[in-house]
Amino acid sequence: MTPAPAKKTLFVTATGTELGKTYVTCGLIRAFRELGRDVQALKPVISGFSPEQPDNSDTGQILRALEQPLTPDTIDAISPWRFAAPLSPDMAAEEESRRIDFDTLVDFCRARQQQAEDILIIEGVGGLMVPLDDRHTVLDWILALDAEILLVAGTYLGSLSHILTALSVLNHHQRPVGRLILSESAENSVGLARTAATVTKISQLKSIVSLERFSTPDCFSGLARSLIHPA
Ligand SMILES: Nc1ncnc2c1ncn2[C@@H]1O[C@H](COP(=O)(O)OP(=O)(O)O)[C@@H](O)[C@H]1O
Ligand SMILES: [Mg+2]
Repeated sequence: MTPAPAKKTLFVTATGTELGKTYVTCGLIRAFRELGRDVQALKPVISGFSPEQPDNSDTGQILRALEQPLTPDTIDAISPWRFAAPLSPDMAAEEESRRIDFDTLVDFCRARQQQAEDILIIEGVGGLMVPLDDRHTVLDWILALDAEILLVAGTYLGSLSHILTALSVLNHHQRPVGRLILSESAENSVGLARTAATVTKISQLKSIVSLERFSTPDCFSGLARSLIHPA
């Protein structure tokens, strides 16, 4: 009998916003499914969410990758904290006189980790240290969970400092990244190879994955395999 696969949670965070977290989350969902794995995914906190147009939201994209229908129930199941304003979560919540209860957010993720039978992917929100409330950032959320960290970054001019800062903060908390995923920037790109080489030189990080723009499903398949069977 084949042994049950080891349960795994991947937390997809980034050095900033709009760099490719959802792109990577959806690419990995499709790749794991292609490999015959059971994959669940969450986007627990989403700002800039319009209930009238959920299709292209992160939640909509993730449900499509999971081949699940887009209904109020499926949206609620993967994204309980939804806010209209396209602001950081703390500010977006405040605009609606609401707040994200950090402990409830962590408990929600832990419960879903317990329920998941194989792979659970959690897409964070914004960048690594975007505030969730007056006291907690995404970093605190990650530190509270037992998950492998995937840090998504760009290759734009300026990204090196953002990458090295994020790596340094995570190392400081003894939570090194599982993978740094460089998603090639559309504008002002200094290139994947040069960005990866410089990060390796300065941080000694070896687990860097480079995604060209509009990477083929093969790239995600390779990444998915390496996450299940680390070398
Ligand atoms: N490697 C890439 N190739 C092509 N488009 C990309 C790539 N990475 C990100 N994008 C695009 O950039 C935009 C922002 O990416 P997204 O995944 O939504 O970022 P985030 O979830 O971090 O805010 C989206 O339109 C996405 O499709
Ligand atoms: Mg996103």
